[in-house]
Amino acid sequence: MLNKNFYSLFAGTLGLLLSACTGAQQNSPGAGTPSLRETFRNDFLIGTALNVPQIEERDPKAAALIPLQFNAVTPENIMKAEVIHPQWDKYNFEMGDKLVAYAQKNNMKVNAHTLIWHSQLPAFVRNIKDADSIKQFFTNHINTVAAHYDGKVFSWDVVNEALEEDGSLRKSIFLQKLGEDYIVEAFRLAQKASPHSELYYNDYNIEQPRKRAGAIALIKKIQAAGVRIDGVGIQGHWRAYNISLKDIEESIREFSALGIKVMFTELDLGVLPNPWDSDAADVNKKAEYNAKMNPYPTGLPDSIQSKLNKGYKDLFTLFLKYKGKIGRVTFWGVNDGQSWLNNWPIQGRTNYPLLFDREFKPKQAFYSVIETKTTKAGKKDN
Ligand code: G3I
Repeated sequence: MLNKNFYSLFAGTLGLLLSACTGAQQNSPGAGTPSLRETFRNDFLIGTALNVPQIEERDPKAAALIPLQFNAVTPENIMKAEVIHPQWDKYNFEMGDKLVAYAQKNNMKVNAHTLIWHSQLPAFVRNIKDADSIKQFFTNHINTVAAHYDGKVFSWDVVNEALEEDGSLRKSIFLQKLGEDYIVEAFRLAQKASPHSELYYNDYNIEQPRKRAGAIALIKKIQAAGVRIDGVGIQGHWRAYNISLKDIEESIREFSALGIKVMFTELDLGVLPNPWDSDAADVNKKAEYNAKMNPYPTGLPDSIQSKLNKGYKDLFTLFLKYKGKIGRVTFWGVNDGQSWLNNWPIQGRTNYPLLFDREFKPKQAFYSVIETKTTKAGKKDN
C-alpha cells in the first residue's frame, strides 16, 4: 500500500487543479484523494454509471466526488426504452438531456445505454404480436432516439446482450419477429441517425470462449455488410475471487484484431455467494433471500477485502498492458451502497463490489487500482 502522506501531498495539488477544471469544491470529500480520471488520463477513459439522484446532484457527497474521479458517464437506466420511449409515439428525453448537460458541465463523455435490448422494454412493446409493428417500433426508436442525441453523446451501446451463453443469438422478441439480420439493421439505422457517435456492441461474459466466438461472428457480420461498428463492450460483472485473466486477455487481443476498440463497460467485482455458481448477469434470474447468502451485513472481513484488492489490481495491470486497445473502463455505479448487486440475484443483501464505500470514501481496492499506475512496474508502462 502506498504511503498515505504521499497521497495527501500529490492529491492535494491534483484536487486543486481538478476543482479548477470541473467546478467542484476544494473542501469536498474528493479533496485529498488521488483521482482515477487523472491517474489514467493518458491510458483510457474512466467511467461510472449514474442514477437519477446523481444526475440531478441531489447528494452533495456524490456531486463532489463524481467529477473529480470520472471523465465518462453511462446512464444506469434513464436511456433504456421503457423510460425514454414509454408510449408508441411519446418520447421522454428529460433525464437524458439533463445527463448530457451534466456531462458537458463536468467535461465528461456520455456513453448512451442502450438502443436495442430485450429487457426494460416499454409495456406496449411487450404486448405487440405482429412483426410489422415490432419492425416499426424498432426503426422509429433508433431513428428518433439516436438522432436526438447525435453530436451530444460520444457513443452508443447500439445492441445490448443479444447472445446466449453458447454464442448463439438470444431468442429475444427482436430475433423472433425480425430475424437474425436485426443486429446489422440496428447498426445501419444508428449509423445514419447518429453519424457523430461511436457505435458499440455490449454484452456480459463475452470474454468467455464460446460466447466470445459468437460476438466475433456477429461483429464480422456487421463489418461484412459494410456497416460501421467502432467498439465492443465487455461488461465485466465478475466475482472478486474468480476472474479469468486469461480469457480477458485473449478477448482484448481477438476483439481488437477486428479493428475495433475494446471497452470494459459495467465493471464490478461481487464478493457474495452466488446461488447458481455462474457469472451470468441475466437480470431476470432471481433467488430467495436467506441470511447464509448475506454473510457480511456489517462489514467485509480482511481476507475478502484482500481478494477484492487483488482482483482489481490484476485487472488494471492487464488493462494498462493493453491501454492502446482499450478505450474506456466504466464502473457500474459510484459506491457500494448504490450497486445493483445489493439486489441481484437476491434482494436486500450487502455487497462491496466498487472502489468507494457507502460513505463515498475510497476503499483499499481504490488504492490498489491507483497503485497499478504509480508503482515502479506501472511507471514502465507510461
Ligand atoms: O423504476 C422503478 C421505480 O418506479 C420503482 O419504485 C422501483 C422499486 O423497486 O423500481 C424501479 O425500477 C428498477 C430500475 O432498476 C430503476 O431503478 C427495477 O426494479 C430494477 O430491476 C432496475 O434494475 C436495473 C437493471 O439493469 C434492470 O434491467 C439496474 O438498476 C441496472 O443496474 C441494471 O443494469 C444492467 C445493464 O443495463 C445491462 N447489463 C446488466 C446490468 C446489470 O443488471
